Amino acid sequence: MKELWGNVLLGLSLLITLGIFGFEFVKFTNTFDPESASANIAQIKPDDPNKNLAQIERGRLVFDQSGCQACHNARTDKAGPEAGGAVGPSFSNVGVRRKDAEWLRKQIVAPQSVVPGTKMPSFASLSKEEVDALIAFLGSMDQAHDPASEPAIQPPAQLVKEVGDAGAKALIDKGQQLFASNGCIGCHIVGKQGGPIGPNLTHEALRGRSDVWQLEHLKDPISVYVLGSTENIQWIMPKFGHLAGEDLKALVVYLQSLH
Ligand code: HEC
Ligand code: HEC
Repeated sequence: MKELWGNVLLGLSLLITLGIFGFEFVKFTNTFDPESASANIAQIKPDDPNKNLAQIERGRLVFDQSGCQACHNARTDKAGPEAGGAVGPSFSNVGVRRKDAEWLRKQIVAPQSVVPGTKMPSFASLSKEEVDALIAFLGSMDQAHDPASEPAIQPPAQLVKEVGDAGAKALIDKGQQLFASNGCIGCHIVGKQGGPIGPNLTHEALRGRSDVWQLEHLKDPISVYVLGSTENIQWIMPKFGHLAGEDLKALVVYLQSLH
């Protein structure tokens, strides 16, 4: 009899422990940014974290197999390096700026219908499940994906030859000021400051964009990604072609110094 009561008590305390654990777990999943999770990881129920993970992992495979990285810089692992080609935009923070699953589906399956003249080919041969997984994977690339670090400021060697150390430093400082005064910082993180709509620019120089690319991208951002006219194309980053040539130059120098 004593033994029976002992077992009953043990059973009860186990149930209570499980109950508390379950409650804490539900609390945890509820505080787990439901808003951005449901928007970022579109298509997937935010109350099913295991399914999210499985789908993200599946998306990572599809991403690798489809050769997306031939054109897109991406940090496919949180801890790993950013790597990839320079034909398309970097995927840093793509999960923050592109939350609309249907937009993403169109961009993947019929990119010309989203951005006429885009250099991106259609991936219409992928199944719906594969595209869903890709969308989940893209959604996982948010600001938590880029490790917080400060840039090492290193002026381009050619510039130092032309204007000396002091001249180069003056240009970089000017570029940094223009970066703040023109609102770039509202959309771009450098170091620990800035907004996460655009790619993190802390180590922009390491992406290997040329000076000409940087200048053309600043004047009309979509122009570097399409063949032909850029009229009527919707793009998040505004054009800065109205800035003085000297200001554009300082901005390019600043961007190319962020190592
Ligand atoms: C041949 C180069 C190329 C390949 C391969 C490629 N893309 Fe792209 N992608 C681009 C270009 C150029 C753009 C910018 C113009 C546009 O939006 O279409 C772009 C834009 C995008 C965007 C919008 C990014 C943003 O920041 O707005 C997404 C999302 C995207 N691609 C997904 C993919 C996926 C997923 C794959 C692989 C299945 C892929 N791309 C393969 C060239 C490519
Ligand atoms: C409203 C938000 C917004 C503002 C403001 C903005 N950007 Fe961007 N930027 C983006 C987005 C989104 C992208 C990704 C698509 C692309 O590459 O054009 C981007 C891309 C970039 C890239 C390309 C990174 C790479 O190598 O792939 C650079 C460099 C850049 N921006 C610099 C700037 C500078 C400098 C300013 C200010 C003069 C600025 N941006 C203002 C949103 C913004």
